Amino acid sequence: MSDKKIIAVVGGTGAQGSGLVRAILKDKQGGFAARALTRKVDSDKAKALAKAGAEVVAADLDSEDSLKKAFAGAYGVFVVTNFWEHFSAEKEVAQARNAANAAKAANVKHVIWSTLEDTRQLVPLSDNRMPTLQGKYKVPHFDGKGEADKVFSDAGVPTTWLLTSFYWDNMIFFGMGPKKGPDGKLAITLPTADKKLPAIAVEDIGKCAYAIFKRGKEFIGKKIGISGEQLTGAQLAAGLTKALGREVVYNAVTPEAYRGFGFPGADDLGNMFQYKRDFNDYFCGARSVEFTRSLNPELLSYDAWLAKYKDKIPLE
Ligand SMILES: NC(=O)c1ccc[n+]([C@@H]2O[C@H](COP(=O)([O-])OP(=O)(O)OC[C@H]3O[C@@H](n4cnc5c(N)ncnc54)[C@H](OP(=O)(O)O)[C@@H]3O)[C@@H](O)[C@H]2O)c1
Repeated sequence: MSDKKIIAVVGGTGAQGSGLVRAILKDKQGGFAARALTRKVDSDKAKALAKAGAEVVAADLDSEDSLKKAFAGAYGVFVVTNFWEHFSAEKEVAQARNAANAAKAANVKHVIWSTLEDTRQLVPLSDNRMPTLQGKYKVPHFDGKGEADKVFSDAGVPTTWLLTSFYWDNMIFFGMGPKKGPDGKLAITLPTADKKLPAIAVEDIGKCAYAIFKRGKEFIGKKIGISGEQLTGAQLAAGLTKALGREVVYNAVTPEAYRGFGFPGADDLGNMFQYKRDFNDYFCGARSVEFTRSLNPELLSYDAWLAKYKDKIPLE
């Protein structure tokens, strides 16, 4: 292991980071070693990663000092923050700054920051098409990440900014799978009209990140976007119908209706989908499927993702 380049993976126990850890471990001759960072080294997920061959190291994004220690000796660092744990964009920016400063102090050679757009660049707070949230954001879980892009350049660390996409896995883990409507039919509900939603199997985010580390200098200083396929709500429903052998319809709602669903974060997600709908050409164009497949030839299409994971989608 000592002659291998270490990649320290923030969120190593999470959906994005664990995909990267597994990609590194699988490529035994690749010259890289995986160091998974977690606050809970004794959790089942952390133990499973250690058993699979990862080094598991304690670190907390709220503590720059813990990150410095965890990044020591690493060649690369993957950074993701988890908005949904605290719903605070400001906290995500502060956590990203801790990671950027720690990466600088540890003389890391390549950072990948898992980011999203600052939607306020296209929808300023004065634009009333969607409400302003938390006083100064339109899509807090996007805007904080986009705002944090600059903390990596400010810190002077060699960075690739990785624009990720909606995970199809949200149908399994995030309550976004088909639900029975009043007519008893299974439906997926989105406020994206007939526009395309760039999306990806979350395991492919980690595989793409690994390819970016392997290709080294090529992507340092660049912002790149990834997706596995770009489909409309109707196409997503049709794919489910075929895979599940049960009819699933597309329930198109307005962003206003979506924001009003009342679950935590419904307003943020309603604004997010409206942004994706209203700036669809830009948003899809920033996440070329062809480019993503050139990074990761194993990239799953939607149908391939369904074939692999359809049995995990909870159905009523
Ligand atoms: N769902 C989507 O479609 C989608 C698409 C694009 C981007 N995203 C973004 O992805 C992010 C979540 O990533 P994910 O899905 O990989 O997360 P996840 O599966 O929910 O796991 C969260 C990870 O973050 C780690 N973590 C959280 N707070 C931490 C802290 N203070 N210090 C150290 N580690 C911490 C957790 O580690 P431990 O608990 O083990 O410490 C865990 O590994 C969100 O910010 C979301 O906006 C989501």
